[in-house]
Amino acid sequence: MLAEIGKFSDWLSMTPISMTFQTVAWIIPAVQSVHILAIAIVMSSVIMVDLRLLGLMGHSQSISGLTRRFIPWVWWSLVVLLISGLILITAEPRRDLLNGVFQAKMALLIVAIVLTAVFQEMVRRNMEFWDLSPGRRRAAVATAIASLVVWSAIVGCGRWIAYVEHG
Ligand code: HEM
Repeated sequence: MLAEIGKFSDWLSMTPISMTFQTVAWIIPAVQSVHILAIAIVMSSVIMVDLRLLGLMGHSQSISGLTRRFIPWVWWSLVVLLISGLILITAEPRRDLLNGVFQAKMALLIVAIVLTAVFQEMVRRNMEFWDLSPGRRRAAVATAIASLVVWSAIVGCGRWIAYVEHG
């Protein structure tokens, strides 16, 4: 499997589009900046909802209202992150695709997406779900902590990729 990824990476890095990304000096810094701005939007949106779930802010607003307001920003920013991330991979395929931390980041991202989608769907089906009983309020706290841990781990992995030896 690793050999196949290595071969694919070598092929990709020789394509005209990858060579353009490698040689035009401003492209990668510009794309990295877009990636970082989208991370800021994802993290601030997630934190707004999670702090409300933890009961630490926004008591005047309902959980469902905050979810409807902020979670769409997460999905749209993820589209931007995917496109900018694919450009970064195309520029240096071996650096990312053969990197264990990059693979961990993608696995964590799947967890975060599932967690966010399930949470959004539960809120959509029953707007008062999280406030209905003490048990559910504890579930809200657990969900917020899991969300904060997973999204922060994705940010950590993203930054860490640059410091790990790759194939
Ligand atoms: C949607 C799919 C995503 C893809 C394909 C992707 C891909 C990448 C790639 C290829 C890099 C460059 C790593 C390197 O070579 O050093 C990177 C950097 C990074 N990514 Fe992502 N990423 C995605 C989503 C995310 C998300 C959701 C977050 C966090 C919420 C994130 C956080 C970061 C961080 C913090 C960096 C380091 C930026 C820097 O130091 O310049 N990424 N990403």
